[in-house]
Amino acid sequence: MTLVVNPLRDPRDRRLPRIAGPCGLVVFGVTGDLARKKIMPAIYDLANRGLLPPSFGLVGFARREWADQDFAQIVHDAVREHARTEFREDVWAQLSEGIRFVMGDFDDDNAFDELAHTLSQLDAMRGTRGNHAFYLSIPPRFFGTVVQQLSRCGLAESETDAWRRVVIEKPFGHDLESAEALNSVVDEVFPPEAVFRIDHYLGKETVQNMLAIRFANNLYEPIWNSNYVDHVQITMAEDIGIGSRAGYYDGIGAARDVMQNHLLQLLALTAMEEPVSFDAESVRREKEKVLSAVSLPRRLELHSARGQYAEGWQGGVPVQGYLQEDGVPDDSRTETYAALRLDVNTRRWAGVPFYLRTGKRLGRRVTEVAVVFKKAPHQPFAQSATEELSNNAVVFRVQPDEGMTVRFGSKVPGTALELRDVTMDFQYGDSFSEASPEAYERLILDVLLGDPPLFPRHREVEMGWRILDPVLDYWADHGRPEQYASGGWGPQSAYEMLARDGRSWRRP
Ligand code: BG6
Repeated sequence: MTLVVNPLRDPRDRRLPRIAGPCGLVVFGVTGDLARKKIMPAIYDLANRGLLPPSFGLVGFARREWADQDFAQIVHDAVREHARTEFREDVWAQLSEGIRFVMGDFDDDNAFDELAHTLSQLDAMRGTRGNHAFYLSIPPRFFGTVVQQLSRCGLAESETDAWRRVVIEKPFGHDLESAEALNSVVDEVFPPEAVFRIDHYLGKETVQNMLAIRFANNLYEPIWNSNYVDHVQITMAEDIGIGSRAGYYDGIGAARDVMQNHLLQLLALTAMEEPVSFDAESVRREKEKVLSAVSLPRRLELHSARGQYAEGWQGGVPVQGYLQEDGVPDDSRTETYAALRLDVNTRRWAGVPFYLRTGKRLGRRVTEVAVVFKKAPHQPFAQSATEELSNNAVVFRVQPDEGMTVRFGSKVPGTALELRDVTMDFQYGDSFSEASPEAYERLILDVLLGDPPLFPRHREVEMGWRILDPVLDYWADHGRPEQYASGGWGPQSAYEMLARDGRSWRRP
């Protein structure tokens, strides 16, 4: 594969494809689901789009007794099954030449010495020039051992001007205290600018588009405040159950799994002020500012809800409840649904509740941010004409039907003056011919380019826990989550939570 870069174009032109320079990526945890379904396919997709250097090296590290070819076969199968772009023999041939495998345990010094040796060979043979990223797709309890090993064998720092980076996956702790402990373990070895924390929601095209739509246009910003906005609903609904993930999920639950990170990130992007620029420092600063202004309602019994899926029906098929899933203890109190009201105490948002909800085994898979506006202050119509009219809304449809909807009232055709809700839709598929990249493609590329705006720094993670810890403590002291039928829209208490505020959840 040859990469052709037009020499007449200014290299600072942001429209030029962003192509990673010579480098290698070491993945720990290559036998896991995430590596197979997301990381390896994303690497292939990047190679296929011409965004990886021809000399790219990929090294797997695990306990299996594999040779390089065995690992290459695993990558091949994962790519065939999960890659987004079509399989091309020439791309694969070039990528697979740079694939290596190192066998070992995380506490095995010899294995890490072998890793160092493999990387220097790659540098010599493929020209990766000592630039290496280490992707820890492993349970956080091993982070300390692995980063210490990397440091011991001289891989955490380079003696030349080559870069070294570490990529970590959530969960970044299970509360504030453990997040701080985890951070200090990584911090001991890697400087903050070398640490890339993945929140894959930030890699989603539609999530980045929230900032583009808010700040590239003049249409929305003037009404994006408490003068016009009644409330905001952020929904992340999944139709799947926990599958074979009981080992990870039980004891963690919906709030720690996705609310502390993905949903709070969506809130931050919806509510933040315009950053001075889109560099990492400016974007992170604005997100942190808004997260630091978030407060919990005083009475959590009225403004939070949680549930656990019971048996029910999904897509016409009967499904079992959470307590019947493999590996879940009969008396588990882990919530698979969480809803919470948050307030943002700034001039822009005071008095506008942000309602967050997420759940597994709900009616359908949908993630959206709905900004719901106040009703017009005066309606010069007969009351009967506006009965079917609800509030105006701007909805960012994050997935699966990527786009944006604006809901407003319109006259129903006919001789009477009757009003009804209509929508205006923007669909990615209709407006752009190129399909959106997977979140992991974007994020892995950004790691290799050393481009950090889409990666939360530790302070943001900490703020997430500061917001959620009191809710988790409250739930821990207050009995079991309410059961809700699989295939429905969550527990009764979640409906009541909004009804008390005179509002109702959107039916996606
Ligand atoms: C992960 C959670 O972060 O996000 C999973 O750990 C969840 O429980 C997943 O299923 C959902 O991601 P997506 O991209 O399918 O919305």
